[in-house]
Amino acid sequence: MTSPHVVAISGSVNRPSKSRALAEAVASAALDRIDMRLSVFDLIDAGPGLGAAFGRDALSPDASAVVDAIESADALIAISPVYKGSYTGLFKHLFDLVDPASLLNKPVVVGATGGGHRHGLVVEHQLRPLFGFFSALTVPSSIYASDHEFAEGKPVDPTVLARIDLAGAQLASLLLSRRSYLLPERKEQLRAASAA
Ligand SMILES: Cc1cc2nc3c(=O)[nH]c(=O)nc-3n(C[C@H](O)[C@H](O)[C@H](O)COP(=O)(O)O)c2cc1C
Repeated sequence: MTSPHVVAISGSVNRPSKSRALAEAVASAALDRIDMRLSVFDLIDAGPGLGAAFGRDALSPDASAVVDAIESADALIAISPVYKGSYTGLFKHLFDLVDPASLLNKPVVVGATGGGHRHGLVVEHQLRPLFGFFSALTVPSSIYASDHEFAEGKPVDPTVLARIDLAGAQLASLLLSRRSYLLPERKEQLRAASAA
């Protein structure tokens, strides 16, 4: 059996980026436990062709490659900076272009970074419902980290590190548990239910 492909996507347009560093830290916690292939993307990888596209057909090759990677991944790590109390607009635009059926039953770790703790619940109130729309399996432990909880671009706060480890462990468990034990007709039922 081939190892699962995990795609980490950061909703930031900055490099270096705390959101990207958080996504990489979660991936590293999962990699400590299971064999998996990892691809990491941010909005710079998608390029200006993402924001300029009103539809999937209008995406530039770079932006299309990111959407394709998200759709074909076995699991996602989705982390966005908080902008004006929500995930970034381009992060939402990216997921607006993702096929609604493509994340069905797939494990997703959700997280965010922000300037302070005031908007910590953005993960529960906005990111989790977004992936609920896709009928994805968001892992129970989400992650939020404020700017002061990073040093040299990496998360260092012990509580944040513990949550990263927990989310990575939960991602690894979900990937191990869902290795296509589902009968094909059950998969089809799930797909039809999510499209209804
Ligand atoms: C346009 C803009 C809006 C922001 N709005 C918020 C906000 O509403 N709440 C917050 O806590 N931080 C806010 N921030 C701070 C960023 O979320 C924070 O610095 C984040 O860690 C940046 O992540 P990055 O390094 O991955 O780009 C904002 C930053 C920018 C540039």
